[in-house]
Amino acid sequence: MVLSRLIALTALGFGQVGHAAQALFEAPIPFTGTGTSPAQIAFDAYSPSTCKQSPALFPKHSELDASLEKLFNNRTFQLNAYEALGSIVRVPSVSTDDLLPVGQDPRWEVFLDVHAVLESKFPLVFKSLDLTKVNMHNIVLHWQGSNTTLKPILMTAHQDVVPVEPLTVDQWVHPPFSGHYDGTYIWGRGSCDDKPDIISQLTTVDSLIRHGFKPTRTVVFAFGIDEESSGKEGAGKIARFLEAKYGKDAFASLLDEGSGFGARHGGDLIIASPDTGEKGYVDIHIEVNTPGGHSSVPPRHTAIGILASAIVAIEADPHPVVLPRAGTAFQQITCEATFDPSVPSEIRELVERAAHDDDALEELSRVLAAQNPLYEVLMATTQAVDIVQGGVKINALPERAVAIVNHRIAQQSSVSEVMERITSVILPTARKFNITLNAFGKSVYHGASGAGEINLADTWGTALEPAPMTPTVDAKPYEILMGTIKAALKASPKYNKNEVVISPGLAFGMSVTNICSRYTDTQSYWNLTKHIFRYGHTDGSGIYDGIHTVNEALNGESLIEKIRFHTKWILNWDEAED
Ligand SMILES: *[C@@H]1O[C@H](CO)[C@@H](O)[C@H](O)[C@H]1NC(C)=O
Ligand SMILES: *[C@@H]1O[C@H](CO)[C@@H](O)[C@H](O)[C@H]1NC(C)=O
Ligand SMILES: *[C@@H]1O[C@H](CO)[C@@H](O)[C@H](O)[C@H]1NC(C)=O
Ligand SMILES: *[C@@H]1O[C@H](CO)[C@@H](O)[C@H](O)[C@H]1NC(C)=O
Ligand SMILES: [Zn+2]
Repeated sequence: MVLSRLIALTALGFGQVGHAAQALFEAPIPFTGTGTSPAQIAFDAYSPSTCKQSPALFPKHSELDASLEKLFNNRTFQLNAYEALGSIVRVPSVSTDDLLPVGQDPRWEVFLDVHAVLESKFPLVFKSLDLTKVNMHNIVLHWQGSNTTLKPILMTAHQDVVPVEPLTVDQWVHPPFSGHYDGTYIWGRGSCDDKPDIISQLTTVDSLIRHGFKPTRTVVFAFGIDEESSGKEGAGKIARFLEAKYGKDAFASLLDEGSGFGARHGGDLIIASPDTGEKGYVDIHIEVNTPGGHSSVPPRHTAIGILASAIVAIEADPHPVVLPRAGTAFQQITCEATFDPSVPSEIRELVERAAHDDDALEELSRVLAAQNPLYEVLMATTQAVDIVQGGVKINALPERAVAIVNHRIAQQSSVSEVMERITSVILPTARKFNITLNAFGKSVYHGASGAGEINLADTWGTALEPAPMTPTVDAKPYEILMGTIKAALKASPKYNKNEVVISPGLAFGMSVTNICSRYTDTQSYWNLTKHIFRYGHTDGSGIYDGIHTVNEALNGESLIEKIRFHTKWILNWDEAED
C-alpha cells in the first residue's frame, strides 16, 4: 500500500493546479459523533496544531555524516544501490488474497529467494546484526546499541508486492519483474512499493558499519511478507514477536512506508507529509434472504428489490463532513494555509479564524468539501457499494441478494459508530417491507414471519479502528522527524535550495488492486509505540507512473535520497536522549 496522492489546497482548485499530478501523498481528517476508537481517545488530550516547524537537524556525528554524503554522490555506490533494488525486484514475491498460512502453502517459499538476494547483497549486515526469521519468512534484524537504557527505534518495510495483471504485461515499458535500470529509472513491480525501503535501510546500515559506526541506541528492522494481503502472516506475527521480546510501548518510534514529499508553488516550496494518522476500515455485508418460488407468481418485491431499496437509502445518506480541530486534517490544512503562498488569502483567513471559531470551522469544512471530493474523503467516513450479487435463474425468484459496502472510517469515528449508523439507515427499509433485520448479531426488528430477513455483518472480519493519532504537538519524535527530513533535503544536491515545510497527513489506504485492500502494516504495531510515522521520503515526481499499476518504476535518484534520509534518521536518533 501507500503513496496515494498529495492533496493540496492549491491542487484542490484554490490556486495553481500544475503540481497536483506530481505531488504525491496523502491528506488529512474528519470528525463527528461519539466514537470510542483509539483515535477518539487520543483526540481528547490533543491541542490543535499551529504547524510549528522544527529546524533542520544535522547529525552531530559530523565527520561521519560528511563522508557518507560524499559516498552518496559516488556513482559506483549509486549503481550498486540500483542493482540491489533491481535484483530484489527480480524476485516475484507476490502476495495474493488466497494464500494459506505459512507452512501450508508452497507459494510462500519465494521469500527464500528474497532472503538469498538480500544476504548476498548485504553480507556485512547479516553478519553484524542479529537475525530472527519470524514465521519462517519475516525478517527481523536487531542492531544492538551500547546504551541499553535508551528505547530502540523500529524501522519497517514489506517484502511482498501486488500481482501483475497478466493482460497488462505487454503495456510495461520494461518487463514487470526485470528490475531493469534504464539510466534513470529502476523498473518493475515493487520498485516503488515497497522494496526501496528495504534496500535503503540495509544500504544505510551497510555504509554505517563500513564507516566504523557502532550504535548507541538499538535499532530494529522488520520486513513483513503480506502487507498487500491480510497482514496476518507478516506484521501480525512480527508484532507478537516484538511485543514479547521488547515489551509494550518499548520503541521510541516506528518508521514505516508511507507518503513522501512534493513541490508546491512553482517548485520553491516542498511540503513533506508524514502520515500521522490512518483512517479505519470496515466492509459491511448486507444480505437479504426471502422465500424462493416461481417467477410466474412473484411477490411485489423480491430480495433484489428490497436490497436495492436498502442501497438507495445508504447512498441517500452519506456520512457527515466534519473537521475536528484536533484531527490530522485540520493540522494539514493549517500547515498549507500557513506556508503555501498559493493558498488564496480568503481561505487562509478562514483557516485562521477556524482555529478558535466554531462557525468558521464549519464553514471551512463546507468550502473544502465543495471544492474537491478528496477533501470530503479526509473529513468524513466514506462508503462505497462495491459488490452486488443476487439471482441465479430467470424463472426462479432470488432467495438471496447481497451487497458489500466498503467504508473508510473517519479518524474521529469508530467501527461501532459505522455499524450503528448503517443499521439505522436500513431500519426504515426493514419496516417498509416488514422484514426482520438482524444487525451484527443483534436482532433489531421483527418483521412478518415468513417474509425473510436482512442480515448485516462485517464481511471478512477485517474491521479496523482508525489508528491512534501520532503526537505532533510538542512531541520530540515528531520534532526529530521534521528535523531529519529538512536536513536530508538540505544535504541533497537536488533539493538544497528549496524551502521545506512538514505537515502531518492522513493515510486512507488508497490501494487499487486488492479487493480486501487494507492499510499499512503499522496497524499491527500500535502496541509498540505511540510515535508511528508512515513516511518513505519519496519525491512524488520520482515515481514514473504510480504504484500498483503497469509501469511501476522509481527514479534512481529517489533511492539515494531515501538512503540519505534513513542515514540521518538513524544518526539523529542515536544522538537523541530519551
Ligand atoms: C567511488 O567508490 C568506489 C568504490 O568504493 C571507489 O573505488 C571510487 O574511488 C569512488 N570514486 C570517487 C570519485 O570517490
Ligand atoms: C408485519 O407483519 C406482522 C405479522 O404478519 C403484522 O402483525 C404487522 O402488522 C406487520 N407490520 C406492518 C408495519 O405491516
Ligand atoms: C495489543 O495489546 C492488547 C492488550 O494487551 C492485545 O489485546 C492486542 O492483541 C495487542 N495487539 C496486537 C496487534 O498485538
Ligand atoms: C544512556 O542514556 C540515558 C538516557 O538518555 C542517559 O541518562 C545515560 O547517561 C546514558 N548512559 C551512558 C552510559 O551514556
Ligand atoms: Zn506498501
